[in-house]
Amino acid sequence: MKKALITGITGQDGSYLAELLLSKGYEVHGMIRRASTFNTRRLDHIYHDPHGNGEEVHLYLHYGDLTASDTLLDIIYNIRPDEIYHLGAQSHVRVSFDMPEFTGDVTGLGTVRILEAIRKSGVKARYYQASSSEMFGGAKPPQNEQTPFEPRSPYAAAKLYAYWLTRNYREGYSIFAVNGILFNHESPRRGETFVTRKITRAVAAIMAGQQRYLYLGNLDSRRDWGYAPEYVEAMWMMLNRDQPDDFVIGTGEAHTIREFLDEAFGYVNLDWHDYVRIDARYFRPTEVDYLLADAAKARRELGWEPRVRFRELVRIMVDADLELIGLPCPGEGKRIVEERFGQWHRWDQQVVSMDNH
Ligand code: NAP
Ligand code: GDD
Repeated sequence: MKKALITGITGQDGSYLAELLLSKGYEVHGMIRRASTFNTRRLDHIYHDPHGNGEEVHLYLHYGDLTASDTLLDIIYNIRPDEIYHLGAQSHVRVSFDMPEFTGDVTGLGTVRILEAIRKSGVKARYYQASSSEMFGGAKPPQNEQTPFEPRSPYAAAKLYAYWLTRNYREGYSIFAVNGILFNHESPRRGETFVTRKITRAVAAIMAGQQRYLYLGNLDSRRDWGYAPEYVEAMWMMLNRDQPDDFVIGTGEAHTIREFLDEAFGYVNLDWHDYVRIDARYFRPTEVDYLLADAAKARRELGWEPRVRFRELVRIMVDADLELIGLPCPGEGKRIVEERFGQWHRWDQQVVSMDNH
């Protein structure tokens, strides 16, 4: 049985990746932070309390933090994983302007702490670095592996540091280390303060009569939005090939926030102009205007191709948020997921009994 370690397992991608690896027969270990409230709601549906009588699930959680190198070394040395997926980060771009030093510590230095733990422990683990299209910043679209980086936020600068460290450890220490340069990917499990989920949650709350207005920032930037479960498949593909290399992952289709609003509100027959207000708080000191992936290399060398397109993604997310709030949903997004992925993902149960809390 192969062993994988996931940092950031409680996040959107970490939870989908854990499901994927368990379905492939891996023993999955995840690092979680100690929090004063439960932070494992995206994992509860796959976790089985070992004290219970249910079927065994090979998912194990360990306390750790990217700011503490001693625990990272212990975790890696004790588990001796075959694959490490480093997804943990302070991942919010707007927040990185408020907390630039902290973001550099967690998102940038956190990476070198993991790479050093691999090197010092002598564990022969393959390493995946969650690099980001945000590193392209002001670079002209479409962006691919050859596009020069022009980071425009503390988050992007921290990710760029981590990107180069990953390449350096690959070249200097022969570690099988790869950068997945992923463009924005979303899902019903997306963090609530990223723009897509903020919008789809608002659509549901407005439909339920619980919210009057939705306050947003810049509506003109363009993003290449894909469906997160497909992106974690690309992560696995990158670690399961002969040679380590870096790959851009995205759909090759970009839309503005306005277009997202059109689709999300239009799906439930609302006109977003009646509900959206602009709040300058959500503007960024420097914005990334246009991200558009050229993922030809991933298509060619990994055989990776997105199946869920923009309009379908929006419908999946709106359906999920309507259900979450207890309203009936039009169901087109739900049907797409059931047909193409076998099941409507369970994603937001209330936490009850993670035994190692
Ligand atoms: P996310 O939902 O924000 O999850 C981030 C994860 O990092 C959470 O599990 C979080 O734990 C953990 N974390 C934060 N600070 C930590 C610390 N000090 N020590 C240990 N863990 C810490 O992010 P995501 O959307 O799943 O993205 C996964 C990774 O891909 C991130 O590195 C992100 O920057 C990168 N990325 C994301 C996208 C995207 O569009 N989603 C695109 C490109 C790259 P808590 O749950 O306790 O907060
Ligand atoms: N979050 C947020 N909230 N964004 C808003 C809002 C708002 O109220 N109003 C407008 N936006 C705009 C932002 O200014 C940005 O141009 C765009 O919506 C997308 O913002 P986010 O959803 O926060 O995502 P992001 O593109 O900044 O960052 C995400 O994608 C990166 C990959 O390109 C994050 O997941 C990063 O971790 C990831 O690396």
